[in-house]
Amino acid sequence: MSNLVAVLPGDGIGEEIVEQAVRVLAALKLDLELEKADVGGRAYDLYGHPLPKHTLDLAKKSQAVLFGAVGDWKYDTLPREFRPEQAILGLRKNLGLFANLRPAVLYPQLADVSTLKPEVVSGLNILIVRELTGDIYFGTPRGIRIATDGLFVGDKEGYDTMRYAESEVRRIAHIAFQAAQKRQKKLCSVDKANVLETSQFWRDIMIDVSKEYPDVALTHMYIDNAAMQLVRAPKEFDVVVTGNLFGDILSDEASMLTGSIGMLPSASLNATNQGLYEPSHGSAPDIAGKNLANPLATILSAAMMLRYSFGNEIAAQQIEAAVGKVLEQGYRTVDIYKEGTIKVGTSQMGDAVIAAL
Ligand code: NAI
Ligand code: MG
Repeated sequence: MSNLVAVLPGDGIGEEIVEQAVRVLAALKLDLELEKADVGGRAYDLYGHPLPKHTLDLAKKSQAVLFGAVGDWKYDTLPREFRPEQAILGLRKNLGLFANLRPAVLYPQLADVSTLKPEVVSGLNILIVRELTGDIYFGTPRGIRIATDGLFVGDKEGYDTMRYAESEVRRIAHIAFQAAQKRQKKLCSVDKANVLETSQFWRDIMIDVSKEYPDVALTHMYIDNAAMQLVRAPKEFDVVVTGNLFGDILSDEASMLTGSIGMLPSASLNATNQGLYEPSHGSAPDIAGKNLANPLATILSAAMMLRYSFGNEIAAQQIEAAVGKVLEQGYRTVDIYKEGTIKVGTSQMGDAVIAAL
């Protein structure tokens, strides 16, 4: 396993927030080699492409990519292939990152930042594992055609294909079961098996894979019910695994339970634990360069990187505990600030986390 980390700050607040995560990693004195490169709009300006070859090559030979964010309004008029966001899609595709892990954690100190009642969400700690490269988003055939069956024969219709290959479901199942083993050993698989063939197939495979993980309790839930339970009693969940479409929706819903976009990390993994780690939020051009952005989502993404790509659970927990401690001490960036706490900027928040380590 390589100890190389590709550091790709990108656009907007990317530079400021990634800098803090890099400082935190440095403070832990780990055996990691960090190499920086340009990505996103900034790479387009410099090299004419949001994911230049040297950046992609660096990512490919690295065990992990620490990513900031990409995008800015000024690139909105570019042809799609040159838009900054294409860099993430290109990295996912080239590294085969099929598993998207998004924790939704609400530190008790931030319970009143959520839109839900504090008792419903305080201490919330769930992990959504979303399949990222299959499902109806990529299934073919797709397009527009003249309907030849059903109630609207002869009419124009739009159509997509929901599909999952057996090996595709198996590999995401293994990621989810292994994540569950590191946590409360509870895995809920979300599908729509009462209506969809793809979902019944998914469910059967989950049950089959579960035989290899007798220590993990597997349950199943329909997506409509899961969407409901996630706001009614989110703490009932620990790890949730689901397909691309349902996962897209559920992971956004889960992130809102915490009410603080600046706090949410994410990981995208392949079968060799090579991964891309980034905050769930975007490049926030409205606050870029002002030392206002919350770096904690990126710092927590670095913790996920140590856990999933480098197998260093201890260092990951050290970072997470340090984040809990700075919140306990009352430090807040503007996005999570409330009266009676200590308002700090991006770099001061980094200082506080390093001090807490
Ligand atoms: P955004 O997440 O960048 O910002 C939404 C709101 O949250 C803004 O008011 C912003 O100031 C605030 N915010 C975001 N992160 C924050 C942080 N760390 N601390 C404090 N406040 C924070 O989403 P938006 O505005 O829709 O998109 C801006 C740009 O980011 C667009 O170009 C979009 O395409 C791109 N984007 C990139 C993503 C990525 O790189 N993975 C993901 C989502 C959006
Ligand atoms: Mg989404």
